[in-house]
Amino acid sequence: MNITSGRKVVLVGTGAVGSSYAFTLVNQSLCDELVLVDLNEEKAKGDVMDLNHGIVYTPSPIKIKFGTYEDCRDAAIVVISAGAAQKPGETRLDLVNKNVNIFKSIVKSIMDSGFNGIFLVATNPVDILAYATWRFSGLPKEKVIGSGTILDSARFRYLLGEELDVAPTSVHAYIIGEHGDSAVPVWSSANVSGKFIENHFTDRRKDEIFVQVRDAAYQIIESKGATYYGIAMGLARITKAILQNEDVVLPVGSLLEGEYGHTDVYIGVPTIINRSGKKDIVEILLSDIEKEKLAKSVKTLKEIGSGLF
Ligand code: 2OP
Repeated sequence: MNITSGRKVVLVGTGAVGSSYAFTLVNQSLCDELVLVDLNEEKAKGDVMDLNHGIVYTPSPIKIKFGTYEDCRDAAIVVISAGAAQKPGETRLDLVNKNVNIFKSIVKSIMDSGFNGIFLVATNPVDILAYATWRFSGLPKEKVIGSGTILDSARFRYLLGEELDVAPTSVHAYIIGEHGDSAVPVWSSANVSGKFIENHFTDRRKDEIFVQVRDAAYQIIESKGATYYGIAMGLARITKAILQNEDVVLPVGSLLEGEYGHTDVYIGVPTIINRSGKKDIVEILLSDIEKEKLAKSVKTLKEIGSGLF
């Protein structure tokens, strides 16, 4: 497979999620060059100016500029966070038709530039749009990654850390499935230092914790209109894993081709990420209930996606 070189990132879509991601990336100096593309040129140019005014304080030098789809030609990663956003009361899946159409033209323009790097898709419904990007781009599945359940898993680990009074980084637990209402908490393997924690909680408490994870976005959207910091930090983590060739396991949106018994669907599962994009999917053991829930999540996504491609 063609391994991309360089540390150039192009961000398409500088709304709340995109600009928070740019801010995170710049603060951590995760790339050498960051190009911002948006239909709203003024907004993107404003972000470029604003970010450039902070680069004397970044850990290492970074070039930030406004650009066009042409800039994707030699990018290592193109992150797409463009599209319509969820409004209060809307589910992620409500956005599907609008955003699939937007993606058709965005992905075409990016591919027309000669882009051969890795797509990282963040726009919702992210599982459907990662699938759309893979289909529209014609790139191998390894090169198209969705943000998947990176944020859901982080929310889960945070809440478990609070419950157990342990740093969330020491809580190893995944949410898999749709990044949305049918997401699946994998309680059966959740652990702290190898000590399983499922039995620490009553079924009722487990449900309450999962509902907090599942409904977190609705709560944040109700209170401030949108969610952006958490997802931005998750996207930056995936970017780092790619650019630094980490071979780290992260719960991202990957194409299933028989893994977990499912095919032809992008969904959040633990995935080994490196410079080539997705190296492999890790099939963690699931209980029968978790398998059933994952099958339902796959079915939901397939129903939504059917007729769109
Ligand atoms: C989130 O989960 C809305 O998908 C976004 O924060």
